[in-house]
Amino acid sequence: MIKERIVVGVSGASGAALALRVVERLAEIPSVETHLIVSAAAKRTLLHEVGPHALHQLLAIADRTYQVGDIGAATASGSFRTAGMIVVPCSMRTLAAIAAGVADNLIVRAADVHLKERRRLVLMTRETPLHLGHLRNMTAVTEMGAVVLPPVPAFYHRPKSIEEIIDHLAARAIGLFGLPGEPFATEWDPQSHRPHCAVAR
Ligand SMILES: Cc1cc2nc3c(=O)[nH]c(=O)nc-3n(C[C@H](O)[C@H](O)[C@H](O)COP(=O)(O)O)c2cc1C
Repeated sequence: MIKERIVVGVSGASGAALALRVVERLAEIPSVETHLIVSAAAKRTLLHEVGPHALHQLLAIADRTYQVGDIGAATASGSFRTAGMIVVPCSMRTLAAIAAGVADNLIVRAADVHLKERRRLVLMTRETPLHLGHLRNMTAVTEMGAVVLPPVPAFYHRPKSIEEIIDHLAARAIGLFGLPGEPFATEWDPQSHRPHCAVAR
């Protein structure tokens, strides 16, 4: 089976658990292959927010992993075909570097490649409150073709736990790639006022 490659960049914004969930969910889709890049700051947030085994867990789930400094890796080239890239969570530093095209590490270079090749790039930008520079950078990447998806929780599905909030955010992000066989997408159901599992495509 030819697999759909998704590049996952993890940067050092708060929300490290979301990165873990996105990679776990992608691993549940048989047609998907994950290519993971973790920044130095993300290693700190994974440790601080999730725990001492989080980084190891993340690296173990991904199909391929790359060093963030390896700007000669496969994912640094437009010739490496992918179905898209997600940066989860996306720090304001990484957002600014993407917006300015300063491709000085593999996460930013891979994001730059996705923009130039006109492929799907989803940035789960996380900071609050936002200053004008943050907002301008979000505008700039949107104008270049990226999708800015801040991890803002929804409440219409009446989440009972942080886990449910993280699950919902991860499903929303992965849904943006339109992957075949994605089993856990949720759709708003106005009848029940609860989201229901979408029919697998
Ligand atoms: C515990 C922790 C939480 C952080 N949360 C955020 C955040 O929510 N948003 C953000 O932009 N930066 C946050 N930072 C700061 C970034 O980690 C820092 O700017 C870093 O240089 C980002 O590098 P990277 O983009 O290469 O991962 C946080 C740092 C730590 C240690």
